[in-house]
Amino acid sequence: MTTLIASSRDYGALVKEDRVHSDIYTDAQIFDDEMERIFHRTWLFALHESEIPRHGDFKLLQLGRFPVIATRDADGDIQLLINRCRHRGAQVCEAMRGHAKRFQCWYHGWTYDSKGDLVGVTGAEAYDENFDPKDHGLTLVPRVDSYRGFVFASFNPEVTDLSAYLGATLKYIDIMVDASPIGELEVKPGVVTRTRYRGNWKQVGMDGYHPHYVHMSVFKIFSQRESTTGSAVGALHLEDPFDDRSSSRTRGFPHGHSCLDFREQRRPHADEYIEELERSEDGQRYVADMIDAHGEEHARELIAWHGDPHLGLFPNVQLIHDHVRVVIPRSPGETEVLMYPVFLKGVGDTINEKRLRAHEAFYGPAAAGSPDDAEIFERTQRGLIADQSPWVLLARGRHRERRDEDGSLVACISDEVTQRVQMQEWKRLMSDR
Ligand code: FES
Ligand SMILES: [Fe+2]
Repeated sequence: MTTLIASSRDYGALVKEDRVHSDIYTDAQIFDDEMERIFHRTWLFALHESEIPRHGDFKLLQLGRFPVIATRDADGDIQLLINRCRHRGAQVCEAMRGHAKRFQCWYHGWTYDSKGDLVGVTGAEAYDENFDPKDHGLTLVPRVDSYRGFVFASFNPEVTDLSAYLGATLKYIDIMVDASPIGELEVKPGVVTRTRYRGNWKQVGMDGYHPHYVHMSVFKIFSQRESTTGSAVGALHLEDPFDDRSSSRTRGFPHGHSCLDFREQRRPHADEYIEELERSEDGQRYVADMIDAHGEEHARELIAWHGDPHLGLFPNVQLIHDHVRVVIPRSPGETEVLMYPVFLKGVGDTINEKRLRAHEAFYGPAAAGSPDDAEIFERTQRGLIADQSPWVLLARGRHRERRDEDGSLVACISDEVTQRVQMQEWKRLMSDR
């Protein structure tokens, strides 16, 4: 693996228990080292397997600094191929997604199949007997694994097993998948909201302190309009986020994963969601199928949870409300965020339509949720440049966090547990050379 010129700076000193130095958001050398030490070393979310269902389907990904082609090969397996011709290095695929069983390089015409094997060399007779096409297939990303349709990748052959990396968060991923009565999700290729904001990648999501401030105007509008049952975005039932007795909690897991845990807050509302669902045929079928699949008790809580784990998996994916959110750092001060609405398989169309409408209302480009977040990230980035007083405080609720039996740190929903565990994992990876 290529290593850029690495900094000799002590990154451990930039992250304390209750604060971080603002250089970690603004410094170009730190950004380069993040790509090597975090994005090229740990697990990254790649895609959902339903995005490329058939042999020949492909999608381009950006994983760390590397362009990657995700393909579905002739055996039905997903391959992650580094998008770099083994002749002189040109990208062999430029389309963001599509269907192609072969990739032909535009430069001199070398051709690869969906496993990445080199199957065609222009003027092959000019190479001697030492040239074996088998040695020149597209390079595979060394580690690929998946959990319930979510495909993860790592450029580090020595990386810990995916299940150990995800640990206790696996049961939160289940919340999203088990909202489908057949336990399957669909992420449709091409259906995505793409945002690019002028701020650092570490600012995105998992903050339970801001919604009552940044999003209050939207919440007021939502509370006055027709219910959006079936979608997590509609299931607000706001509690006082500053009262430590409120049932919603923040959670921090090993490896920097975090969660805004609304399960206890939503559970008591199962009856009203079921009652509303049962006003439509699709809703009646959905409730009945969920009970068949999960038994009454678990079906009721799954319906109340709306398939929303509100989970952030460090460093690049969040399962929030009705979507999968992928974070792509472009520079210290620029980040791309892709939001893929998630559809439930095995349900009537109106169930998914409602989820999609609610997603658009908060997260769409003309909505009032995500654009406000992007604006606040940009204001933060402009402020962070002024580093006369360089420390950023993440101390909120530190005195009242406690360790839960699943190993997570838990505190009040507005406490900065989430940011603290992310930053501790950042420090571990950045310091571990
Ligand atoms: S660089 Fe791809 S064929 Fe030459
Ligand atoms: Fe927000």
